[in-house]
Amino acid sequence: MSLSAENRDQLALNTSSVGADAGLSDIRTSQPDPYASHLANESGGVVSTEDIYDNRGQLLIRRHAEIDLRRAQLLLQHRLIKPLEEQVQVKDSLTNASFFVEYSRFLESHRDIFAAQRHLRFARQLEQLIQGMNLPSVLAQKMTVMKLRLPEQFQKALFSSWLAALIAREMDLGKEGIYAAFIAGLTHDIGFLHISPEILNKKGEASVNDWRAIQSHVVIGQMVLKGYPELPDTVARAVLEHHERCDGTGYPTAKDESSLSVIGQIIAMSDALQALRMGVFAKTGRNLRDALPFLRLNSNTHFYDIYRVSVDILRKSGLEPTPVAHPQGNSQYVPLIVKRIDYLKQAVGSIKSIAKTLSGIESGPKGKVAARTFDHVLNGITTSGMARDELLGWVELIDDSIDDSILLEINEIELMQNELIWQITSAQRTFNAFLERECNVDSQLQATLRMHNEQLRDSLEKLRQR
Ligand SMILES: [Fe+2]
Repeated sequence: MSLSAENRDQLALNTSSVGADAGLSDIRTSQPDPYASHLANESGGVVSTEDIYDNRGQLLIRRHAEIDLRRAQLLLQHRLIKPLEEQVQVKDSLTNASFFVEYSRFLESHRDIFAAQRHLRFARQLEQLIQGMNLPSVLAQKMTVMKLRLPEQFQKALFSSWLAALIAREMDLGKEGIYAAFIAGLTHDIGFLHISPEILNKKGEASVNDWRAIQSHVVIGQMVLKGYPELPDTVARAVLEHHERCDGTGYPTAKDESSLSVIGQIIAMSDALQALRMGVFAKTGRNLRDALPFLRLNSNTHFYDIYRVSVDILRKSGLEPTPVAHPQGNSQYVPLIVKRIDYLKQAVGSIKSIAKTLSGIESGPKGKVAARTFDHVLNGITTSGMARDELLGWVELIDDSIDDSILLEINEIELMQNELIWQITSAQRTFNAFLERECNVDSQLQATLRMHNEQLRDSLEKLRQR
């Protein structure tokens, strides 16, 4: 498991349970807060600003004490009377001036984003947004801790805020809307600071409980952000909703289009593009514009207007698509694409069988979300033509002399296939949660569902091979 995997926003496990916890109590004081383990470090710089008590009134740490690793361990064993971040000070906390330096460094080290910014004439506006930021000191402190302890996450926050503000500008949301998108983009994953580093850094397959913990970051994020008069009042809600999707397959509450906010969906789109650009694209040298095939498969995922504006931004970015050769030579490329079209057809067969069975049974929330997620995938495969014989026929006509223009077309098919593999994997994860926790149908139907699920797993494994 990794945070980049999480960022793809397609994990709809435990939607009701994560959401249901939201109004009951403050997660930061209802249990020992993992923020202590992100906050503490050997080199110092974090000091208590008051006596820190647990929820029974026992004094844990005196005022002006260094929060070192030993004291952090103590804090991790107690529920506190009030949130830890309100009782500590972090040295060299980020200011607007140091945020400006961070954004400048980020842009310098991501040349395509820098070039797009220049082409779209966004530099001056970004500077004004940073200079005009009115981040409460507790939040500036948290972003400082993120920068130090979750540096990759911090870079992603910079990118998301940059893109969210740009999308808001292109949608003509006005000064307030652009600022709200900017701040929500910057802080959207602030909830990760209240999830234990062991869970965030765990390697390998994540358990259902780990995903549940990871997914809680949206609810925690909302709690952290609400109640600050300095912040636009759309920000906390946008953070809560940044993994929701218009087709009702997101989390924490699987809301549908009619009850989602624009800023929340702008952050969802920025976060998805961020995950591509900063994740898989960074490894293959692809640039931001190469995300167009991904967008084509997500035209209705986060409001059509947001999709349209995002496509425009990439098209007007001045960037060119990047031809990427197959790592084992381009002669391997056509056989790969052909095999994948075939496996995709097999996957479609399994998904249709599962969807048909699901439609005939009375399922609970997870079953409904799983059915919607599979519908979304089937719709994407159908409208993109990615499992059609015509595509197969076209690909099979390609001979060994692959020039750049053919390579770009093959790249585009591969990127769309990758996106579909992502979507199917995510749909299957949701479906597994349904099978594990909620599937109460008779044993014969269960056996049928599990058989189709196994076949789907098999197709997915083959699709993932290069
Ligand atoms: Fe997130």
